[in-house]
This record gives sequence, structure tokens and C-alpha cells, in this order.
Amino acid sequence: MTAGRATNVPAAEHGTAFAFRDARVDDLAEIVAIYNATIPGRGVTADLEPVSVESRLAWFDAHDATRRPLWIASTGGRIVGWLSFSDFYGRPAYGASVEVSIYLSETVRRQGLGRTFLERAIAVAPGLGVKTLLGFIFGHNEASLRLFEGLGFGRWGNLPCVASLDGVERDLVIVGLRVDAGPDGTTRRIA
Ligand SMILES: CC(C)(COP(=O)(O)OP(=O)(O)OC[C@H]1O[C@@H](n2cnc3c(N)ncnc32)[C@H](O)[C@@H]1OP(=O)(O)O)[C@@H](O)C(=O)NCCC(=O)NCCS
Repeated sequence: MTAGRATNVPAAEHGTAFAFRDARVDDLAEIVAIYNATIPGRGVTADLEPVSVESRLAWFDAHDATRRPLWIASTGGRIVGWLSFSDFYGRPAYGASVEVSIYLSETVRRQGLGRTFLERAIAVAPGLGVKTLLGFIFGHNEASLRLFEGLGFGRWGNLPCVASLDGVERDLVIVGLRVDAGPDGTTRRIA
């Protein structure tokens, strides 16, 4: 999924074929809609109210296919999910570390798309100069923790009760994975 190239992946065991490509700015409304749909459930993000498309333009512009990709997945002509690499902390010394975010429409969950996205992120990371992948996940987001841990991420941190969601204090778990390119060019996970 380098710049401008689209790929199709049939999720054979689930019967749905998803197409993947780099996001374009005219996808942003759908990307934001998928994100906003997760807010009321209070299980995924610390945003408490829907965000506007305009407010996410700077975030969109901070992505580029060669360093900090933003990918979309679609099926039946509709965008149904996205994955982004974002700077961690924003300071130069952290340049080889990224935060990975994945958001899918509810209609396509549990069909292997989250795993496919994350496997692809791990596979391309060394080629993008990324050595450390991080996930910032609420402690009660079981689906996401299982997804990341199932692909080798370890629990690197627990920030207890740092979020308050409708008066309920929630933990933030930091999961991480170190990667490099092995001799055959494929990604190795480093313990
Ligand atoms: C988390 C999320 C990306 C998972 O994607 P998905 O396509 O539904 O997950 P997959 O079908 O690829 O499942 C991969 C693994 O994740 C775990 N998993 C996914 N959904 C789960 C659920 N509802 N309950 C428990 N485990 C779950 C399982 O370990 C699963 O492996 P298995 O099928 O062998 O049991 C998706 O639920 C989502 O978009 N959630 C809202 C956004 C979010 O929480 N993002 C994470 C923060 S960045």
C-alpha cells in the first residue's frame, strides 16, 4: 500500500473482500464518521463529543504514505475502516516510534479486517523507518487489546484511572511492539 497503489484482499474465511489504499482528503468525511460513531460507546476514544471534519484536517495533512500512512479499507464502494500511523509525542527523538490507530464500522467487525490492517502495518513498518509500534488503548477495550496482543504487542504501560468517561474512571494501557527488517526483508518482531 505505497502511495497511489490499491490492493484487494479477499478475507477468504469470512467471505468479504476488502480493498485497501492510501486515504485522500475527500475520504476525510467518511473517516471522521467512522471515528465519531465510536464516541457514544465510551469504549474506544477519549473524545466525548463528535469531532468535525474541519477539525481533523491538520491531522489528515500530518500523514504521508512514505512515513506516516493513513489507509482506508472499503467494500461495496463504501469506506468501512481506516488505519493511521501518528507521531508519538511529536519530538524528533521519537521519530522511529508511531502510534497506530484502527477504526472500523461496526458492520464489518469480527471479519478479520482489524487483524489484516495491523499485520500490514507491522509488515511495512521497517520500510517506513519505524522501529516501534504503539497502541494507546483503554483498559476496558477488550477487543482491541486482544487484537494487538494477538499479534505480539506487549503491555508496556498502564495509566490507572487517567480518563473519566461519564463519571467512570478508566485506565489507559500502552501496548508496544519493536520491529526490524530481517535478512530476507520481512519484518521481525523483537522481544
Ligand atoms: C478493535 C477492532 C479494530 C478489531 O477489528 P476486527 O476486524 O473486529 O477484529 P478481527 O476480526 O480482525 O479479530 C482479530 C482478533 O481481535 C480480537 N477481537 C476482535 N473483536 C473482538 C471482540 N469483540 N471481543 C473479543 N476479542 C475480539 C480477537 O482476538 C480476534 O481474534 P479471533 O477472531 O481469532 O478471536 C474493531 O473492533 C474496532 O474498530 N473497534 C473500534 C475502534 C477501536 O477500538 N480501535 C482500537 C483503538 S486504536
